[in-house]
Amino acid sequence: MAFVPKEQIGVGAVRVSEREKGYVREVLESSRLTYGPFSRRLEQGFAREHGCRHCVLTNSGTSSLQIAIAALREIHGWEDGDEMLCPAVTFIASSNVILQNGMRPVFVDVDPLTYNIDPAQIERHITPRTRAIMVVHLYGQPADMGPIMEIAAKRGLRVIEDSCETMFSSYRGKSVGSFGDIGCFSTYACHIMVTGVGGLTTTNDRGIAIMLRSLANHGRDSIYLSMDDDKGKHGEDLKEVISRRFRFVRMGYSYRMTEMEAALGVGQLEDAPANMQVRRENARRLLDGLARWERHLQLPRKKDDERDHAYMMFPLVIREGAGFTREELTYFLEERMIETRQMVSLLDQPYYRQLFGQDIEEKYPVAKWIDHHGFYVGCHPEMTPEMVDYVIATFGEFFRSKGL
Ligand SMILES: Cc1ncc(COP(=O)(O)O)c(C=O)c1O
Repeated sequence: MAFVPKEQIGVGAVRVSEREKGYVREVLESSRLTYGPFSRRLEQGFAREHGCRHCVLTNSGTSSLQIAIAALREIHGWEDGDEMLCPAVTFIASSNVILQNGMRPVFVDVDPLTYNIDPAQIERHITPRTRAIMVVHLYGQPADMGPIMEIAAKRGLRVIEDSCETMFSSYRGKSVGSFGDIGCFSTYACHIMVTGVGGLTTTNDRGIAIMLRSLANHGRDSIYLSMDDDKGKHGEDLKEVISRRFRFVRMGYSYRMTEMEAALGVGQLEDAPANMQVRRENARRLLDGLARWERHLQLPRKKDDERDHAYMMFPLVIREGAGFTREELTYFLEERMIETRQMVSLLDQPYYRQLFGQDIEEKYPVAKWIDHHGFYVGCHPEMTPEMVDYVIATFGEFFRSKGL
């Protein structure tokens, strides 16, 4: 093995391009640090890329999810204790926001190939109090939106897409974030677009977009949701804005993205086509290189040709009877400068076991398998072909050490 990395090969990486630095400098020189021209550009560009009419920026994926539920709750008159279906495998924030909105998450086991909510299991969890489905597109692979949207329409349920891990990816030619009532995205470090922290909320409904913007701005009256909304107004129009601009019509939050983050986001959006190509190329190289050990490891293949995969990460699950443990394999990789993370888990988290019962995981066998046997490595655009080959060779070394 000729190539030895100088630094750890991370699960994610951040590189701020010269273009992004220039945009941030422009913001700093303009002294316009909150919602301004870059925020508008990012909202319009991101919405366009995801086939949505509206996008509202927030300060995190979690804030986006939080106001998505709050908006639907207000529109549809949901009550405390109403239920929302949620996959049994996801990052904890997807489910926390349901609880934080006074609702009850009802877990549904996941598809063993995509790790996303299994449509075949949804209906048996629906009760008279079910109001919505929180669909999560994990690691870059869209969930089975065809059957999910059919069930939602048939049973009168709303749909929120937690697409915090998936961007620039589609199912049957339609973008993630454009299927449900609202789509939520994250630009936290190691995600597909990175602004440090940040979130984007998409919708095709103008009324929902206005409500989301109000919720992210303390619940403000829709007449003044940006500091430019009084500009160019005269006479009666100006009087109307002045009289209402400090009115608050609902309980809202302070969830705004800064203009510096939006400037980074605009640069990231412009570079996204090139970055996505490298990400997908790295994933293809890993898939080809690891294929010979596929009887021991489940690789992140697309479930079918109906969907893309954005490969935010490269998740792997150790198959039953593989003859080694996740811990053995991941320690081996880590000792050789390859960072790994356990796949996101929910039901084995101490807080969730406390809330829902110590044995909650037993009811969700696929989730349990993933929680205990799944992990991921990176395939981000900062990984060179040499680094990818090094990762493959290191897996090979591990399998040889096991006589496999
Ligand atoms: C599936 C999922 N949902 C929600 C979030 C929360 O996003 P943020 O960290 O931007 O609040 C994440 C972030 O890692 C995530 O992976």
